[in-house]
Amino acid sequence: MKLSKRLQQVEQIVETGYDHIWDCCCDHGQLGAALLKTQIAKQAITPAQIHFVDIVPELMDTVASNVKRFLPNTESLWQTHCLDVALLPLDLYQGKHLIIIAGVGGDLMMHFIDAIHQQYPTLELDFILCPVHHQFALRQQLIEFNFGLKQEVLIKENNRFYEILYVTSSQHKGANISPIGDQIWHASSVAQAEIIQQYLTKTLSHYQRIAQGTPEQVEPIIQAYKTVQIN
Ligand SMILES: C[S@@+](CC[C@H](N)C(=O)[O-])C[C@H]1O[C@@H](n2cnc3c(N)ncnc32)[C@H](O)[C@@H]1O
Repeated sequence: MKLSKRLQQVEQIVETGYDHIWDCCCDHGQLGAALLKTQIAKQAITPAQIHFVDIVPELMDTVASNVKRFLPNTESLWQTHCLDVALLPLDLYQGKHLIIIAGVGGDLMMHFIDAIHQQYPTLELDFILCPVHHQFALRQQLIEFNFGLKQEVLIKENNRFYEILYVTSSQHKGANISPIGDQIWHASSVAQAEIIQQYLTKTLSHYQRIAQGTPEQVEPIIQAYKTVQIN
């Protein structure tokens, strides 16, 4: 159950203090299993319950049998749910929730967040989001919903770039979310500065290509990315 660099980064930024962690669209369940292992290793007094969620029944059966096999005697710490992430039954579980959604398109992610937000408008929820594409639109939605930013990270894996957004539905508990990102443009090393520059170049050329067809829609986005200052 080896974790990709992207999911390792997601796992590393998870804060403590959650009662329920939802590994949504979990596929083979690597992330949830790694989070479970960490809980066991830390011998947390009140460990978070790990919820593996995917819409494909066979995947959920395999996850359940693998976790039972590789992490025996942990049944009280996890469960599987074969369901649509838009229908998470958060109200059945008391306490603080973290919802992780990674590895699906930003448009599908926006649909999930919209549905969860509509169903639980007053519940304070944290999300870790790692979309494939549509980062700008996703950020716009989070801003519209008054979410607050806890942390954001940019990584490169297999020649692809991923933004990881750790956000909370409670705006006063986080910083303002920028439509183009803020922390992701700050480099902590020469190598990261190079990744950031590559990402900016790639993002700008992506929108400049689209601008050849529908300039009025993307021109403001291009102008926004042109203001980025890497430091
Ligand atoms: C590419 S995998 C992502 C795996 C892992 N989260 C990652 O980041 O590598 C996408 C998964 O999303 C699941 N999925 C797609 N639509 C879904 C939905 N509406 N509800 C729950 N799972 C869904 C698919 O079955 C698939 O296993």
